[in-house]
Amino acid sequence: MDKETSVKKEKYLILREQVVSCNSCDLRKGATQVVPGAGSLNSKIMFIGEGPGATEDRQGIPFCGAAGKFLDILLESIGLNRNKIFIANIVKCRPPNNRDPEIGEIKICTKWLEQQIEIIQPEVVVPLGRHALNFFLPGKMISKEHGNVYEQGGRRYFLSYHPAVALYNGSYRDVMLSDFKKLHDLINN
Ligand code: URA
Repeated sequence: MDKETSVKKEKYLILREQVVSCNSCDLRKGATQVVPGAGSLNSKIMFIGEGPGATEDRQGIPFCGAAGKFLDILLESIGLNRNKIFIANIVKCRPPNNRDPEIGEIKICTKWLEQQIEIIQPEVVVPLGRHALNFFLPGKMISKEHGNVYEQGGRRYFLSYHPAVALYNGSYRDVMLSDFKKLHDLINN
């Protein structure tokens, strides 16, 4: 492991320890465990979801349930897999009954996400769905902006629907597969 990677890893492990022992808001009370994030610290691309669902809450891994299976298909369609990317969420603990995370919870919890980004330094961030989009680029509407790229603070943001939408409405599958082709072009050019 080169020096830069080992420094990153050291920093990340310290951060991870703080994240998994966080009790800063009430979401932790209803959750089985904190789901900090997973993947390669050297990744140039980070995918950011909303928050853990029931399966993620049980297993401690982001996107390991039904939405995650479709995310794997999307990743595979552009030659990516979990080992090549980093996945995290806006909130690290499951909101009760999968309700939307509240503004206060997002405010408290995203201090962790900000530090993850600071350590990993991705070139491209992919907010998945409206909660993640609203955190990075408030005011943008996912229905109008999916597939678009924005540059902010020296980083590119590729706007994508959340993979769960394709579980509720199958017609989003093709939309997302086609958006991911654009993501492929973005990261390979
Ligand atoms: N949905 C999310 O937004 N994140 C997960 O980790 C799982 C489902």
